Amino acid sequence: MNTTTAAPIGVFDSGVGGLSILHELRRELPRADFIYLADTANVPYGTRSDHEIRTLTAQAVEWLYQHGADLVVNACNTSSAFSLDYLRAHYGPALPIVGLVPALKPAVKATRSGVVGVLATAATLRGPLLNEVIERFAVPAQVRVLTITDPHLVPLVEAGQAQSPQARALLRELLTPLAQQGGDQLVLGCTHFPFLASSIRAEFGDTFALLDSGAAVARRTRQVRQEAGLEVDDKAETETGRETGHPQPSTTKVQFFATGDPQHAARVMSELLGEAVRVEKANDYVF
Ligand code: DGL
Repeated sequence: MNTTTAAPIGVFDSGVGGLSILHELRRELPRADFIYLADTANVPYGTRSDHEIRTLTAQAVEWLYQHGADLVVNACNTSSAFSLDYLRAHYGPALPIVGLVPALKPAVKATRSGVVGVLATAATLRGPLLNEVIERFAVPAQVRVLTITDPHLVPLVEAGQAQSPQARALLRELLTPLAQQGGDQLVLGCTHFPFLASSIRAEFGDTFALLDSGAAVARRTRQVRQEAGLEVDDKAETETGRETGHPQPSTTKVQFFATGDPQHAARVMSELLGEAVRVEKANDYVF
């Protein structure tokens, strides 16, 4: 069966971080097409006000809608924290929205030490979604949550410096208190941060299990497509690929757009994805 969705799935992030989600989406929906928008002219979002984050997100999602997306994955924890209610109320069934929340719930389940870290942007840490998960799951389980943030992490990933000595030194400084306090789970609560995993491993070995929400969001996207009556491709071959360890038989097409410099975005995105990508400037981005 070789069905291809007529309309692409829109994927949005403030920058290149959403590629960690796109990677999982392509595994889960190997015959879908995608349109990825990186708002690199306005990244980082994580140090902005609630209102700015909501406004920028609304613009980006509208752009994806105007460019034919039939569902949007808000592949940014920061943007999801302040925008999901607004977006769902605004578009209703015309455009299903899938959002993200840091993977704290599985970390609470998995911890043996009772101490977990959440590495996220300042905005995600003050936002309602993460705090609801802390109240509903961590507090009743008596799990201590150490929240960790630094404004330089996202810009380092955006600059293609995720493996740099500078990134490693900063991660060592930021995560040492978690290690000292016996943390055994680290939630990567920003979609840029899975790209820091090898730097974290290089500094801390397997002191912490690293958790992100990519795979769960991809499964949720498949489910939302089904519920909304949108086309869902055949998954059988994907699972065969996983079981045998062979590459996915993916026929996915992705169009990449950036609001900032497309050459720079293409360089960093190609490196992060491990494949050469072409990025177009979102020229008709009106804001
Ligand atoms: N990738 C975004 C997230 O998941 C945040 C990046 C930013 O600060 O712009 O939170």
